[in-house]
Amino acid sequence: MLPKQTIKTLLFDSQPGLSVHIKGWVRTFRSHRFISINDGSTIHNLQCVVDFEKMDDQLLKRITTGSCLSIKGLLTESLGKGQRVEVQVESIDILGDAEADPEKGDVYPLQPKAHSLEFLREIAHLRFRTNTFGAVFRIRHAMTFAMHTFFHERGFFNIHSPIITGSDCEGAGEIFRVSTLDPSRPPLTPSGEVDYAQDFFGKQTHLTVSGQLEAELAAMALGKVYTFGPTFRAENSNTARHLAEFWMIEPEVAFADLNDNMDLAEANLKYLIEYALKNCNDDLQFLNQRLLDEEKNKKKEERSEMSLIERLRFVAEQEFERITYTEAIDILQKSKPNKEKKFQYLIDGWGVDLQSEHERYLVEKHFKKPVILTDYPKEIKAFYMRVNDDGKTVRAMDILFPGIGEIVGGSQREERLTKLQERIRELHIPENNLWWYLDSRKFGTAPHAGYGLGFERLLLFITGMSNVRDVIPFPRTPHNAEF
Ligand code: 4AD
Ligand code: MG
Repeated sequence: MLPKQTIKTLLFDSQPGLSVHIKGWVRTFRSHRFISINDGSTIHNLQCVVDFEKMDDQLLKRITTGSCLSIKGLLTESLGKGQRVEVQVESIDILGDAEADPEKGDVYPLQPKAHSLEFLREIAHLRFRTNTFGAVFRIRHAMTFAMHTFFHERGFFNIHSPIITGSDCEGAGEIFRVSTLDPSRPPLTPSGEVDYAQDFFGKQTHLTVSGQLEAELAAMALGKVYTFGPTFRAENSNTARHLAEFWMIEPEVAFADLNDNMDLAEANLKYLIEYALKNCNDDLQFLNQRLLDEEKNKKKEERSEMSLIERLRFVAEQEFERITYTEAIDILQKSKPNKEKKFQYLIDGWGVDLQSEHERYLVEKHFKKPVILTDYPKEIKAFYMRVNDDGKTVRAMDILFPGIGEIVGGSQREERLTKLQERIRELHIPENNLWWYLDSRKFGTAPHAGYGLGFERLLLFITGMSNVRDVIPFPRTPHNAEF
């Protein structure tokens, strides 16, 4: 039966004298007397005190870190430091032992000591049971809830865009094919190519890189929509910011221009940060301390100026800096690291794409706050962005965050049919795959705008973790799909 009480309610909302029945996993068992147990409801453990003279010794011997227990007892005022209440144990059932066969070396790998994040990634099936990952995934849930709340409160409708598609929205070509053909003996066309007409969907398909194009169609009827789904990119970049499977929030708004889009995105980010500060305090306090402890091992000049919580408050209160790509290039060209050739990629003129070192210079060194860059050269952006009157730049926007770089990418969309067709031809995109998208520009087109917010990048910022692999339960990266 599901326990009615959670450790969270017992620790914070219950009075001594209550009969309790809890189920959870042992974090530590000290002196044959103190069981510290956690059930996931909160980062805090509940201390359960055993009178070992009254307990079966064989049973107590089986209790180790990691074992799963069902405990009945009485909630009493705690005499120990750091907790308001504890449980005087009346009975214990072992639901699951943690050391299946110690003689064979089958030992629970999570001992009560600090484990490296790299080690924990190798046991991702168990890392939920650490304080750090408990905190991260409770916050991940809170941010999911807050995301839906933010859009719901503003009259948006959530659209489930397809996961299998036949169009490549970003045009980047970094896609995972979806096929039921036998890879060792695919049917061939008379000219010797794989005959996808015989494949499941009768054409080439792949996992989506973005739900944007479908969201645009929905916005042309429902007005304000957003998607929140998994996206897949086969980019072979083994960085701390890239996943092959990540979650993206993509709002799309009819009758909105780029300014409306920037306002919405800024409000969206601030709402989530404020929600975390208000509702995830215990977990944030833990992660804050975790980072402070980590910083102690760093050289003074490498330590960050603000703690995690200070940084969250700071960004929630700041007005984001809004500048054009052209202004950013000017700042970067004149910057010290460019003049002293410290950038790995030197900025030698207008038109180049910005690397994360440049983005981070603008945010962390120059403006010292989040920056929204707009109006990029059309050559380095996707086909669907609205072309400015100069014919050279598009109504793009990227939001850059301290410690993260790009967290949001978006734009006002090209709503004019002929201009859109021009871009599609210039970029040699097969027009017949996009006939349904072009129809939205033929039948009642309207100005509209939207953006994509990378959920894991947001979580990096909120939790202070430094690798995206540590904010998604089971990361997918090159050569890594174990769990
Ligand atoms: O800038 P991107 O590629 O934009 C789009 O996909 C548009 N269709 C969005 C839109 O306008 N509706 O990606 C959007 C965001 C990035 O800013 C980044 O936060 C995140 O998605 N992102 C990734 N996160 C983790 N791993 C990856 N490989 C990512 N690629 C992009
Ligand atoms: Mg982008």
